[in-house]
Amino acid sequence: MATKILMVCLGNICRSPLAEGILQSKLDPTQFQIASCGTSNYHIGKKPDQRSINIAKHYNIDISLQKAAQFTAQHFDRYNHIYAMDNENYTNIIKLARHQEDKNKVQLILNESHPQQNLDVPDPYYGGDQGFEEVYQLLDEACTHIVKKLVL
Ligand code: 4NP
Repeated sequence: MATKILMVCLGNICRSPLAEGILQSKLDPTQFQIASCGTSNYHIGKKPDQRSINIAKHYNIDISLQKAAQFTAQHFDRYNHIYAMDNENYTNIIKLARHQEDKNKVQLILNESHPQQNLDVPDPYYGGDQGFEEVYQLLDEACTHIVKKLVL
């Protein structure tokens, strides 16, 4: 059965759609299913922020067809690994955990590339285009580490 991985940020329009697209581009879709969602309900049903669509397109990744969804406890049942983009979202995901097995699935994504540092992927929503380039590079590096771990 395919391994299922969920990327989670606040709005599911900037960071986690990029993380989904980047990781998907590095893995075999018959073996891995990647999705994303947000801890908030702010943008449910919307496509990613145009600045995320643009930076992904610049690196030949199409995220334009994604639709924002909100994280719920049911996601713990459907996914093997849940990556939070920052500490605030990590805390809000953990609050919805029903038992230790749920909690064990959740990690900060940048701990893959920067172990034990508990770094945040900065929220680029209120900034300029440069923030999206920085987010892209951080997520690309983290996803490269995730792939190395998953594909033996
Ligand atoms: P994201 O960025 O969590 O990376 O999707 C944000 C998107 C929207 C808002 C905040 C962060 N917002 O406040 O609407």
